[in-house]
Amino acid sequence: MKNNILNILIEHTDDYITGESLAKELGISRQSVWKYITALKKEGYKIESEHRLGYRLLLNGEIDKASIAMIARLSNYLQTGIFLDSIDSTNRYAKLQSKDYESLLVVADEQIAGRGRLGRVWQSPKGEGLWFSLLLRPDLPSYAAAMLTQVAALAMHRAIMEVTAIATEIKWPNDIVIADKKICGILTEMTTEISALENVVVGIGVNVNQTDFPEDLKDIATSLSLVLGKEVSRLAILSNFLANFESLYKNFLEQQNLGFIVSALNTVSSVVGNDIWIIEKDEKIAAKALEINQNGELIALVDGEERKLYYGEISIRKR
Ligand code: BTN
Repeated sequence: MKNNILNILIEHTDDYITGESLAKELGISRQSVWKYITALKKEGYKIESEHRLGYRLLLNGEIDKASIAMIARLSNYLQTGIFLDSIDSTNRYAKLQSKDYESLLVVADEQIAGRGRLGRVWQSPKGEGLWFSLLLRPDLPSYAAAMLTQVAALAMHRAIMEVTAIATEIKWPNDIVIADKKICGILTEMTTEISALENVVVGIGVNVNQTDFPEDLKDIATSLSLVLGKEVSRLAILSNFLANFESLYKNFLEQQNLGFIVSALNTVSSVVGNDIWIIEKDEKIAAKALEINQNGELIALVDGEERKLYYGEISIRKR
C-alpha cells in the first residue's frame, strides 16, 4: 500500500493530491493514508503536506530516494528504483535483491567496496559520481547477454553527449574515455542456472564531479566536471542514460546481436583503427584493431592473421 501511495505521488509531482482522493483511489481511510505518508517520510522521502491542498512529493533535481523511485517508474523496463546512502557495491546489492524483484535500479551515493573488472577496486567517493546497477532478466542466451555491456556503453556515451555536449569514446568493450582518460567503467555480471540465464546485473560507474583523483589514478582517470569546468547533474546523466538504454535494450532483445548499433560502436570507438597491445596473462601481443563485429567481438590483426577477441584487456599502442 505504501508503494501504491508513492506511485500516485510520483504521478502528481506537479500538483498536490488530497488525502481524500488518495483514500478514495486506494479504498482506504484518510487515517491510513496519513499513516503511510508518515512512514514514507521516515524512510527519507520529502513529502510536503499543505492544509487543504494535500500532499506533494518534493523533487530537487538531485539524486535521492524520490527521484530514483520516480525515474525507475517512468521507465518501462524497471520495476522499481532504490537509493542507498552508502553500500559496499551496488552490483552485489542488486544481485542479492534478485529473489524479490524482476528488475531493479540500484543507485548509491557512495560505495565502500565498489567492484571493477578483474577483481579491481572501483573508487566511488560520496556524492561525486554516479554509481549504479541495473538488475535485468532478459530472455537471451548467456553469450548474448555479455553484449549488454556494449549496449550500456553506447547509451552512456549518448547520455553524456546530450547532457554535457562532451564527445566521449568507447574503449572496447566496457570503458568510456575522454582523451584516453577513463570517465566510466561497466561491470556486467551474470547468474546462470544450469545453462539458462537467470539474471544479469549491469553495473556502471561514472566519474561526474570529482575535482581530484588519488595519485595512482591521476594520469588515467578524469571526471565530467574536470573536462567541462563546472558541476554536472548526476540525475540528468542517469535519467538520460535510462531513456537511451530503454530504446537500445528493446532493439537488442529483438535482434539478440549488436548489428543495429555496430556502425555507431565502430564510429565512437577509441580502439578501432589503432595499434594495440593485447594483454594475455603476462604477455603483451602487438596487434592492430580492425573492427567490432555484430557479436561485439573485436577483430584484430596479429602477425598478418585476423583474430577475434571476446573480452579481456587491451591497451592502445599509438594513435
Ligand atoms: C571497470 O571499469 O573495471 C568496471 C567498473 C564498474 C564500477 C561500477 S560502480 C557501480 C557498480 N557497482 C560496482 O561494485 N561496480 C559497478
